[in-house]
Amino acid sequence: TDEPLVLGIETSCDETGVGIVRGQTLLANAVASSLEEHARFGGVVPEVASRAHLEAFIPSLERAARDAGVRLSDIDAVAVTSGPGLAGALLVGVAAAKALALALDRPLYGVNHLAAHVAVDTLEHGPLPQPCVSLLVSGGHSSILLVEDVTQNVQPLGSTIDDAAGEAFDKVARLLGLPFPGGPFIDREAKAGDPAYVTFPRGLTSPRDLERHRFDFSFSGLKTAVARWVETRQRAGESVPVADVAASFQEAVCDVLTRKAVDACRTHGVDDLLIGGGVAANSRLRAMAEERCAAAGIRLRVPRPGLCTDNGAMVAALGAQLVARGLAPSRLDVPADSALP
Ligand code: KG4
Ligand code: ZN
Repeated sequence: TDEPLVLGIETSCDETGVGIVRGQTLLANAVASSLEEHARFGGVVPEVASRAHLEAFIPSLERAARDAGVRLSDIDAVAVTSGPGLAGALLVGVAAAKALALALDRPLYGVNHLAAHVAVDTLEHGPLPQPCVSLLVSGGHSSILLVEDVTQNVQPLGSTIDDAAGEAFDKVARLLGLPFPGGPFIDREAKAGDPAYVTFPRGLTSPRDLERHRFDFSFSGLKTAVARWVETRQRAGESVPVADVAASFQEAVCDVLTRKAVDACRTHGVDDLLIGGGVAANSRLRAMAEERCAAAGIRLRVPRPGLCTDNGAMVAALGAQLVARGLAPSRLDVPADSALP
């Protein structure tokens, strides 16, 4: 076919991702994670992540080419996450992408990580209805975006003012003695728990907060509330009902996320909601979003977990959409910008 073969590189956090697409057809998605190296620190250590990218990049590139059954010389364009993310981690991917673009004499596209999380859904569910609202929730970001056009017009409606949703899952899991990263373990524990056991606070949902922070999130107060609740129990010499606390915490997070996402759709007259990021794997979030979207007449799209977490295919998918739209490539000196808006 004459659809462009696009290579995508993602190194903004702890995943080294190299993906290959032909148009909007996924051919390969090689992901190497350094998560286990960070586990004993209870969070991602930037320096460790950068070194891991350096080691994992070439093997991931070779695996992606092999999985896709293509040679690097067949690649038509190279796309890379230029930000936001960890500065040192981004630099590895951006430098690698520049080297490839230069060596292959192909155009280079520096892309926004959050836009790539949105664009990836096209690989699974076909063309994205636009405008749409996107709720992106991971260990590094929690945002509501108004996506007018994923290639050139994505407006932030709100984001977390403290911890990211995934970060809150990880911190509460730690408090409950569950392994890192805690999200999947809370999800599993919560299945046997009572979500109404404790009513934890829903951050930034009071009428007064909504005036200024209608589509923003805050999870640090929730985390503190769980910590206090657990401490009080322990000090009284009582055991902590882990499943019930996990379920009650998860309920609070999912309630706020879905409430604000649906409100954003309604406010902007949008009928399609896309949820992405690692936390989109959460079973309660999916169920609650389905329920509330159905009740509000909103169509819901959630990519499969392997496309929700950080990966190279999402970058390749957005790159291919930029190529298809005939948009200009980046200059070879495109910077790695950790604070890219
Ligand atoms: O997108 P991601 O792989 O990496 C970035 O942070 O960018 O997201 C990882 C986050 C972690 O905080 C992890 O605990 C959370 O996603 N997570 C979950 C679940 N699976 C992963 N959180 C809640 N429920 C899950 N099932
Ligand atoms: Zn991400």
